[in-house]
Amino acid sequence: MSESERTGVRKIAKVTCVGGGVIGAGWAAHFMRAGLDVVVYDQAAERESYLRESLAKAMPALTELGMAPGATPSRVFFTTDFQEAVKGTDFIQESGPENIDTKISLLSEIDAHTPLDVVIASSSSGFLSSKLRSGAKHPERILVGHPFNPPFLIPLVEIAGGAAAREAAHNASAFYRSTGCEVVELDREIEGYIGNRIQYAVLREVLYLMSQGVADLESIDKAIAAGPAIRWAVMGLSSALFLGKSDPSLWGKFVESLGREMDSGYIAPSSFQPDPALMQIYAEKVANGIGANGQAGLMALRNAGVVGIRSALERVRTGLVGVNSDLD
Ligand SMILES: NC(=O)c1ccc[n+]([C@@H]2O[C@H](COP(=O)([O-])OP(=O)(O)OC[C@H]3O[C@@H](n4cnc5c(N)ncnc54)[C@H](O)[C@@H]3O)[C@@H](O)[C@H]2O)c1
Repeated sequence: MSESERTGVRKIAKVTCVGGGVIGAGWAAHFMRAGLDVVVYDQAAERESYLRESLAKAMPALTELGMAPGATPSRVFFTTDFQEAVKGTDFIQESGPENIDTKISLLSEIDAHTPLDVVIASSSSGFLSSKLRSGAKHPERILVGHPFNPPFLIPLVEIAGGAAAREAAHNASAFYRSTGCEVVELDREIEGYIGNRIQYAVLREVLYLMSQGVADLESIDKAIAAGPAIRWAVMGLSSALFLGKSDPSLWGKFVESLGREMDSGYIAPSSFQPDPALMQIYAEKVANGIGANGQAGLMALRNAGVVGIRSALERVRTGLVGVNSDLD
């Protein structure tokens, strides 16, 4: 009797990444680092060279994060043959274009050609699982497994499955965790999940500040990166806010005042709606300012910085576990 027959959970040794763009190639690097066999399928043959280049560029960060025994880029295969890509696979990570019709038909096709105990996760940035699986014969194993760019560096995966895919969500969570991801499972469906909704809220505010001439975009980015984002990386928003009063008994009053400030519009212009002209100005300012020297330098900074932050947090958390157990 095989392990999957005994436990009802499929052992995952081979992953198929459908779509070999930024995210598909990033997932391939992540699953490769975890010691899995990876097949990347893309309709476009030229995506193979993009995949190889992406893996090569990711290698310093992957090595720093630690490669599983036997993990090597030579265990990542590329194909334009769909049947070959899904043959013998144990898990599908779909990262095709963010177009609902394309996704519905791609996911239905994958569903029709893979054994029923294979979970099919979509990297979609915002679509509801219930829509994504609407054309499939076996919808209960199709869900959202939403990464952040690049999946080999940013550990979060949001699982949005809805009530119809509880078991698949459970299995997907266990699998992603086994590869080193931090998993957040949504209790109910919502477009954009959690992380992207928060990013949109922050982007809206960035656009507002820019439109009001408060500061240039480099300064606004610095006010995020050198300020709240450092706390967010450690503990998110609410835990950090809870430390904002010297006396925890003042917390309730503090929250009340936050509510009043938001309601009065004193700090948060939540109704601000950027128009297309402002979005165009924003695109140009980023391309001609922050992005004027191309992506390579920014990418190297991001990769080294994220690896450094992850390693530092790992050391801190390990140290704190030691402190707590001393107290026990
Ligand atoms: N880029 C990001 O920051 C980001 C972050 C998280 C999630 N996502 C999501 O990940 C998915 C992929 O995004 P991306 O940025 O990698 O897009 P991309 O455009 O870089 O890549 C999409 C790839 O899919 C291929 N493709 C198109 N039709 C296909 C088909 N029928 N079968 C197989 N492959 C096909 C394309 O050739 C292309 O290589 C989207 O759903 C996106 O919303 C993107």
